[in-house]
Amino acid sequence: MTDIDLRSRFLEGMSRAATFVAVATTDGEAGRFGVTISSLTSVSADGSQPSLLACIHHLSPAAPAILRNRAFCANILQEDQQQLADLFAGRAGAGDHLARFERADWMTGALGQPLLTGASARFECRVATSVLWETHHIIVGNVMDVHLSENPATLLYGQRAYRRAVQIAHHD
Ligand SMILES: Cc1cc2nc3c(=O)[nH]c(=O)nc-3n(C[C@H](O)[C@H](O)[C@H](O)COP(=O)(O)O)c2cc1C
Repeated sequence: MTDIDLRSRFLEGMSRAATFVAVATTDGEAGRFGVTISSLTSVSADGSQPSLLACIHHLSPAAPAILRNRAFCANILQEDQQQLADLFAGRAGAGDHLARFERADWMTGALGQPLLTGASARFECRVATSVLWETHHIIVGNVMDVHLSENPATLLYGQRAYRRAVQIAHHD
């Protein structure tokens, strides 16, 4: 298999792994930045703090800002927040990160991080450690606070489209 074949089969294979969609936000001495990610993953509920990780491209200004601010918030989007997913992916013409923030409502968490109003779940984190693996920073966060919305319906992304989770009928 050529490298190009392997890469495209990898992308096609991963597109079948539907994931939830989050906007990782950060604020602090390095400034305010936010980026749409599907790489958010739970690491452990049973360490000294719960922990999660996110993989963010090294060329996204959000990655060095998170590392310098030493904190971020993972805002898991609700079903009706597709437009925000596109906005924070730079798809709506908002290359300027501060302009992205103007198109949504925010609260400030205990660590000073931007919490997105209406997000399904918001995890406020301190950066615990990070590794630059080739193109992406793998950033592990210690979860210091969790804010849950009343509506748990979470936006999904799979096979290159936004989706919603539907419960499969139970057959005996
Ligand atoms: C559904 C979805 C999931 C994404 N997941 C990631 C991700 O996990 N990590 C990442 O670095 N970029 C991810 N991206 C791409 C970034 O959002 C996008 O490249 C970035 O916001 C470009 O703007 P920036 O370079 O100004 O941050 C994703 C985009 C979409 C639409």
